[in-house]
Amino acid sequence: MRFDENLRQQAYDAVDNQFPVVKQDPYYPGYHMAPPAGLLNDPNGWIQWNGSYHLFFQWMPFHTGHGAKFWGHYRSENLIDWKLEPIALTPSDWFDKNGCYSGSAVADEDKLKVFYTGNVKNERGERQTYQCLAESADGIQFEKKGVKVHLPEGYTPHFRDPKVWKHKDHWYMVIGAQTTEEKGSVSFLESSDLENWTHRGVLSHAEADPFENLGYMWECPDLFPLGGREILLFSPQGLAADGIDFNNQYQSGYVVGSLDYSSASYVHGDFEELDRGFEFYAPQTTLDDQGRRILVGWMGVPDQNESEQPTVSNGWVHQMTLPRQLELKGEKVYQLPLDEMKNLRKHERYNQKVEGESSTSLSRAAEIEVSGEIDELNIFDNATISYDRDAKLLHLKRLSYVDGTIETRSCRLPNGLTHLRLFVDHSSLEIFVNDGEEVFTSRIFADVENDSLNVFTKNTAHLQIWDLKNDTIHIRD
Ligand code: FRU
Repeated sequence: MRFDENLRQQAYDAVDNQFPVVKQDPYYPGYHMAPPAGLLNDPNGWIQWNGSYHLFFQWMPFHTGHGAKFWGHYRSENLIDWKLEPIALTPSDWFDKNGCYSGSAVADEDKLKVFYTGNVKNERGERQTYQCLAESADGIQFEKKGVKVHLPEGYTPHFRDPKVWKHKDHWYMVIGAQTTEEKGSVSFLESSDLENWTHRGVLSHAEADPFENLGYMWECPDLFPLGGREILLFSPQGLAADGIDFNNQYQSGYVVGSLDYSSASYVHGDFEELDRGFEFYAPQTTLDDQGRRILVGWMGVPDQNESEQPTVSNGWVHQMTLPRQLELKGEKVYQLPLDEMKNLRKHERYNQKVEGESSTSLSRAAEIEVSGEIDELNIFDNATISYDRDAKLLHLKRLSYVDGTIETRSCRLPNGLTHLRLFVDHSSLEIFVNDGEEVFTSRIFADVENDSLNVFTKNTAHLQIWDLKNDTIHIRD
């Protein structure tokens, strides 16, 4: 057997062995994508192509740590039911032997083409990185086409995560990078044929106006038009916590700016965190045929107590977020659940006005909508959302899965709290505040027997709850 087939077979064997245990885990999601075994991290190659949405993902099938990543693959026609497809990329060649790292997909003529980073450790243990291409005629089987971009001068080998798009009749690529001065940056490349790439320069970096020092490495950049501007998303590493901001190990956020393609200059505003929760990183977007800019993020953060998550003992860790539609309002990116998410609803469990204290039961796959200004909402006696009217701060507190202590994340709501929409899925919680003005994305490892929802409100509010489908991720036929 060829090396890549052998490696692929080992990954399938790992799934055969581990998935029976994984699927019994009460924390395994019912409608979010998660690994069939091992560790899942970044969303990759996110695209609608030939009638299907494809979401590839960084995958370590053999254990719940990081290492030589594969590209796993989920596919969906309706954005609700996802089917696990054959492995797209295995780390089996000289240029990617220590990992087929993150990247993106584009449609070119009748092919689906993916660009990814080949991560290599040489004999001396030093990192080397190559930006590689692989192609597919059916969206399932990929053929590697080798290295298309070598490391340009001025960067360390922390140079990865190519995101490619077409503008007019040219192709462009952004790459997450570290300059030789060890500053985070985004590198910008151009090509007329996806084969030959010219390095156009640094698009932004840790000391670019208006930043002072925005970290030592920027991962997973994504540049796209939204509302007449160009948004640059990226995940900087090395920011110090600052009050309620930057509280996770690493951040994910965006700047709003204007890109001049001819001079390769990008003028932008300040860095904004995209999500206020505990677990969110490395998001990627795509444009679908309805003109929607849709984002998926990884519901995890590298190096943030990953090995302590309770699912590790069942041989899996992490999951994706729901797909979200982006909109630019003023200088702020809003994130909304896609309309299709209403198709997750099985039946309505609760629909009433609430005032004072109310309690009800909640299933492990549920959606909650609250209209009005509430004071507190508690889920499974583990996660509490509370609103401080005077400070106009919304807080999410949860019991730490490491030591049970209370941890807090917060956001400011300059115009107050009017609406909450929450998605609960076994061990995750996504909270959309004021129709996408802010989002909190977090894992919650509550007592699996606990099914309580408690609401406290001084004002009258309206509470609606649905039970959601619990079986939309199809790992096996
Ligand atoms: C972000 C990241 C990327 C890299 C990938 C490896 O989480 O570190 O920069 O390509 O994960 O799995």
